[in-house]
Amino acid sequence: MPHPFATRVGVRRLVTAAIAAPSVHNTQPWFFRLDGSAAVLELHADPDRALPVIDPHGRALHISCGAALFNLRLAIRVTGHRPLVEPLPDPARRPTLLAAVRAEPAPMPSPSQSELYATIPHRRTNRRPFAKRRVPQVVRDELMAAAREEGAVLSLPGPQTTAYLLSLIAAADAKLVADPAYLAELARWTPDRTRGDGVPWYAFGPRPSGRGLPLRDFGPAAPSAGRDVDDFAARPQLAVLLTRGDGPADWLRAGQALQRVLLTAARRGVSSSLMTQLLDVRGSGRDEHRSHGHIQSIIRFGYGPVVPGTPRRPYPEVLERV
Ligand SMILES: Cc1cc2nc3c(=O)[nH]c(=O)nc-3n(C[C@H](O)[C@H](O)[C@H](O)COP(=O)(O)O)c2cc1C
Repeated sequence: MPHPFATRVGVRRLVTAAIAAPSVHNTQPWFFRLDGSAAVLELHADPDRALPVIDPHGRALHISCGAALFNLRLAIRVTGHRPLVEPLPDPARRPTLLAAVRAEPAPMPSPSQSELYATIPHRRTNRRPFAKRRVPQVVRDELMAAAREEGAVLSLPGPQTTAYLLSLIAAADAKLVADPAYLAELARWTPDRTRGDGVPWYAFGPRPSGRGLPLRDFGPAAPSAGRDVDDFAARPQLAVLLTRGDGPADWLRAGQALQRVLLTAARRGVSSSLMTQLLDVRGSGRDEHRSHGHIQSIIRFGYGPVVPGTPRRPYPEVLERV
């Protein structure tokens, strides 16, 4: 197979896979740069797409870019090449450069790598209520293994810890929705007309009633505008993604682990959505778990209805050729 960076079609396929990744508020805070020799594909953070209110240090931005990096690695792998990733190669002089990626010939990918790649366009955040059916142990084991392979830990709390976590998330959410700066930032990323980014109204799901799961409400400013209200009553399968450290390299790792976990779930027909309000509020209890690692994400797994995908910016907008 030709080198994956050598042709326009090849590069387009890679970048299209990368940008299908989840990102906080669908900000898609990334761009890609291909150097003239077509040897290095760079993944950059786009600081204009940062969220200064909920993400002043860029943690969620790095996690989002890490998820895109995981997709990019998979897309390279299925071309019969192996991705060689240098994370944060020059943070002092090139702070937006999050990863320099090269590719070298390798044996053909394993069936599981090919299947994960094929799942990329089908994974989506599902904010609908989930069925009562439990996620089987064999799948839960697979999800934990997926995080481990990327150097992170996925912890699946029992009922007591789940209840405690949900109470912390509910408290964090209440603080957020009382903050006009949070609401203004959310409003900027929930456009009322179709755009290539942001969370569109059709992806909001029902409005949480406040009696069950404290999902993030993407439409708090227009609560009664034709949206159902739901308790999200089914006991959720929560998962907490942790890393040992808590700096940019760990966030990038967490993003790759998150995406491997989410794709693994989607491949097994398991729906997911994130509930990360706890990470948006200082002093919200996130740091209580430091002995086990730093919480980087909180995920809800289960079985939901099919939901439509969200928009992405057109591919030429996110690729620079130099
Ligand atoms: C770091 C991060 C944090 C997120 N936090 C939340 C959240 O708290 N609630 C939620 O419903 N979705 C959350 N999401 C999901 C994004 O809103 C979603 O990925 C984006 O809207 C694109 O939609 P898609 O995942 O269906 O492609 C988060 C995603 C990332 C990467």
